[in-house]
Amino acid sequence: MAKDLYSILVIHGPNLNLLGTREPEIYGNRGIVSINDELIEVASRSGASVNCFQSNSEGTIIDFIHEHRDADGIVINPGAYTHTSIAIRDAISSVMIPAVEVHMSNVHRREDFRRISYIAPVCIGQISGFGPLSYVLGLKAVIHYLSAGMKNNT
Ligand code: DQA
Repeated sequence: MAKDLYSILVIHGPNLNLLGTREPEIYGNRGIVSINDELIEVASRSGASVNCFQSNSEGTIIDFIHEHRDADGIVINPGAYTHTSIAIRDAISSVMIPAVEVHMSNVHRREDFRRISYIAPVCIGQISGFGPLSYVLGLKAVIHYLSAGMKNNT
């Protein structure tokens, strides 16, 4: 069987395992399995594969990034670690894999602390506010970035 063109890591941070029941007025009714299934489908139509992963622990997310540093791209929703984690930021810049930061909610319309991202400066871009579509847009963005041979601006 032919190798998938691009191998993309999809990383969900803390509390995103509860999607579907967590604050549905903010995050909607869809669970993480349904979101991952859509990403697998979108990726396969684009000649890519996704490796979907969720953890509530900062160190486990960092270990996952290190262990898969041969991947071509990353789509990451760091959850609350967005606003706190220099360690995840350093992990992304250490492996030099193009990454897109995604958020279900529009972090710029919420509390002030959510406007600060430690992760965005080491990503090629940030997508925020489109619910589950944020992940799809993030995946398409990273595949486009890779296929266009764009230069990593991290
Ligand atoms: C989130 C936004 C973060 O501020 C929050 O801590 C989350 C989810 C989002 O997807 O909208 O856990 O990343």
